[in-house]
Amino acid sequence: MTASPPMLQVRQLTTTLGARGPEILSGVDLALGSGEVLGVVGESGSGKSMLALSIMGLLPHPIMVRNGQVHLQGQDLLALPPRQMRALRGKDVAMIFQEPMTSLNPVMRVGQQIGEVLRWHLSLQGDAARAEGIALLRRVEMPDPQRQIDAYPHELSGGMRQRVMIAMALAGRPRLLIADEPTTALDVTIQSQILNLLRKLQQDSGMSVLLITHDLGVIAEMCDRVAVMYAGRVVEQGAVLDIFDRPAHPYTRGLLASRPKISAGAQWLSTIDGTVPALGQMGPGCSFAPRCPLARTACTSVPALREVGPEHQAACVVPFETAVTA
Ligand SMILES: Nc1ncnc2c1ncn2[C@@H]1O[C@H](COP(=O)(O)OP(=O)(O)OP(=O)(O)O)[C@@H](O)[C@H]1O
Ligand code: SF4
Ligand SMILES: [Mg+2]
Repeated sequence: MTASPPMLQVRQLTTTLGARGPEILSGVDLALGSGEVLGVVGESGSGKSMLALSIMGLLPHPIMVRNGQVHLQGQDLLALPPRQMRALRGKDVAMIFQEPMTSLNPVMRVGQQIGEVLRWHLSLQGDAARAEGIALLRRVEMPDPQRQIDAYPHELSGGMRQRVMIAMALAGRPRLLIADEPTTALDVTIQSQILNLLRKLQQDSGMSVLLITHDLGVIAEMCDRVAVMYAGRVVEQGAVLDIFDRPAHPYTRGLLASRPKISAGAQWLSTIDGTVPALGQMGPGCSFAPRCPLARTACTSVPALREVGPEHQAACVVPFETAVTA
C-alpha cells in the first residue's frame, strides 16, 4: 500500500524579485500532514508572507517563483493554469491575513462578501446563501450573527472583522488554511479569543493549518510542528516540543532566549544583535553568520538542513551537541 501524500509538500521553493533578481526564498522545503498545524516563525523580513503567497499563487509582480514545487495532496499547484488555481483558491486552500480591513471590501455588507465566496465555490445563492452565511458567522462565534450579516466592515470591531475573514475562509470548506499573522493587529485579549477559535475550528474540521507568526508563544499554544525561517530559508524544523526543548540552530536559540519572561526580573533575557539582511545583501555563506555567536570558517558555505534528531532538522555546520553546550 502506498502512503497518501502529505496535505502540503513544498520542495526547493525559490522565489525571486524578477526573473534575474535576488532570491527572496531560497530552496524552502516543508511538509504539512493532514489535520496538522505547522507554525512558521521568524523575524520580520525572513520571508514568511512570501512563502504563503508563493503557495497561494498570489505573489505581487515582479516577485515570482523561479524554481521548486508546491504540491497539495499530490497536486502540483505551480503547474495549474490560472483559471484552475483561482477555482482552488478559497475552496481547497484559503488564507487569512493580518489586517482584515485591507482584505474586506469597505462598501459591501458582510453577508454580500461571504455570499460571493458561497456563490463562487458552492453555487449557493439567495436565501440559502444568507442562511449559510449566518451559520458561518455563528461558527466563528460572531455575536448576534442575524444582525451582523447586514453590517458594513467599518461598523465592526477589529476582532469581529477577523471573525468575518475566518468565516469567509471557511466558506469553501478548505482542506488547508494559511493564516498569516492572524492576530498581530488585535489587542491581547482579542488575540487569545481568535487563537482559541482557530484551534477549535481546526479540531472540529480536521483541516490542516499553516500558521505564520513571529510569536513563539502562539507557536507553543497552537502548533504540532514548527519551521523556523531566516533570510528566506528554513533553518530548523521539527516537533514544537523538540524545538523548544532542544533547539539546534543558533538563530532558534536566540529567538527562544528573546522571549519575554514574565517571571524574570528583566522583561527581555536577551535579544539577537543585528537584523535580517536586506534583500540582495546576503553574503555567500550562512546568512546568519554576521549575527551568530558560533560563526567559524566553515560557515562560509551555505549549510543544508540535516537531521539533528528524530524528524528534527537544522541548517548549521556546528554539531548539535557542541551547539547546545556552547
Ligand atoms: N512587494 C515587495 N517587493 C519587493 N520586495 C519585497 C516585497 N514584499 C516583501 N519583500 C521583501 O521580501 C523579503 C521577505 O518579506 P516577507 O514580507 O515575506 O517577510 P515576513 O517574514 O513576512 O516579515 P513580517 O514579519 O514583517 O511580515 C524581505 O526582504 C522584504 O523586504
Ligand atoms: S552555520 Fe555557522 S554562522 Fe550559520 S548558524 Fe551555524 S554556526 Fe552560525
Ligand atoms: Mg509577513
